[in-house]
Amino acid sequence: MDERLCHRLEQLLGATALPREAALYQACARDESNLGSYPPDAVVVPADARELALLLEFAGAEGVPVTPRGAGTGKSGGALAVRGGIVVSTARMNRLLEIDEADLVAVVEPGLITGALCEAVQERGLFYPPDPASLLSCSLGGNVAENAGGPRAFKYGVTRHYTLALEVALIGGQRLSLGRRSTKSVTGYDLVGLMVGSEGTLGVISKITLRLIPLPMQQQLFVAMFDDAVAAGTAVTRLVTAGVRPSAMELLDAQIVEHLRQSGRWSARGQVGAILMVELDGPEEGAVERLERAAGLTESAGASEVVVATDAGRCRALWEMRRQVSVMLRDACPHKLSEDIAVPCGALPEMLRRLDRIAVDHQLEVAAYGHAGDGNLHVNILSPEPLEPASRDAVLLAIFRAAISLGGTLSGEHGIGLAKRDFLPLEQEAGQIAVQRQLKRVFDPQELLNPGKIFPDA
Ligand code: LAC
Ligand code: ZN
Repeated sequence: MDERLCHRLEQLLGATALPREAALYQACARDESNLGSYPPDAVVVPADARELALLLEFAGAEGVPVTPRGAGTGKSGGALAVRGGIVVSTARMNRLLEIDEADLVAVVEPGLITGALCEAVQERGLFYPPDPASLLSCSLGGNVAENAGGPRAFKYGVTRHYTLALEVALIGGQRLSLGRRSTKSVTGYDLVGLMVGSEGTLGVISKITLRLIPLPMQQQLFVAMFDDAVAAGTAVTRLVTAGVRPSAMELLDAQIVEHLRQSGRWSARGQVGAILMVELDGPEEGAVERLERAAGLTESAGASEVVVATDAGRCRALWEMRRQVSVMLRDACPHKLSEDIAVPCGALPEMLRRLDRIAVDHQLEVAAYGHAGDGNLHVNILSPEPLEPASRDAVLLAIFRAAISLGGTLSGEHGIGLAKRDFLPLEQEAGQIAVQRQLKRVFDPQELLNPGKIFPDA
């Protein structure tokens, strides 16, 4: 902590915005990326957009780096203050301002926990679909900054598809109101689209207007067992080709199921090569037929067994299990590397085949799970010891090259941040990276806002 800097900020913003607890400073030095500790010089927790803008004006005038922080659940290092300076936390800007049933929108502050919004709109018969696994602890500002996805993205899309309007503050203190409350608006450049997924490098979000949809009437879930992950991936492409549109299709490979078993989360007996969790939703009418058709197609696409979750409690327990996978792996293998590649859905079986080969070639345990309908796999290298940098880079390169050669990407939903910035040139040409750097300088000419993220060092 830089006491002098904190004191000046306290004079500007008041004591409540400058908590000094050591535990807060420790928490703000890390996130869920496992990329180490970056202690900030000051942590500022503004009460509202006005205080946020004052802070960014100060930072611009003094040339102090600022790193925005939501709930700190990000997995690519977006919230890490790699150049020190100020961490600005949205923890106090966490109000649910409005739910409008006629306009089908919710207006929120960025620090609101995603799950709290989902619950509040559900009570009104409405639905906010984006559901990152960290739903109960992540915040909507972070979701917007990273363009978060989740299991339901397969049918309903990601955070970008629900973000209608944003209020943001720029370094220097300028405040912008972007987008409209109407579902449609094509006036001018799509600056909302630019802000969503910009990983806190262009502006700091102070208010979000989100699109809502009617709550689907009926949800059903079944679990299908397969001999191996490639067979499960093949079934996914078959279901998609047959026009089945589940609300989620989640894949867990054999190693993931084994870890679930060892941690007491999966109790069914017998060897499992891979499982698919398939969730369907829609009107009550025709629900039985919908379930029978999808389950039947899954069986004929190669499942050895299909088990329907018959009651709401069982569905909740299965989703709870799925949402804990990342945390479970972190606890079991603190040195794991966790990736987030995505390929076009049709290429999923081939990507899974290549992962098998990469595991053999590099003699490493490679476990994969994720949003199979989107071709989005969280590939985890479960090494008991930290890997040497050369071996780590070699296996990551192999995974990224495989995904990119199949038409896919370095990151489906976690962002580039600090974790993958050095690999950016694998996917994007120099010209595209240069244009993005120019855009960055339009918003932040001194490169003070979340510096050191997305782009490799020049
Ligand atoms: C998940 C997170 C890691 O899907 O994205 O579990
Ligand atoms: Zn995920």
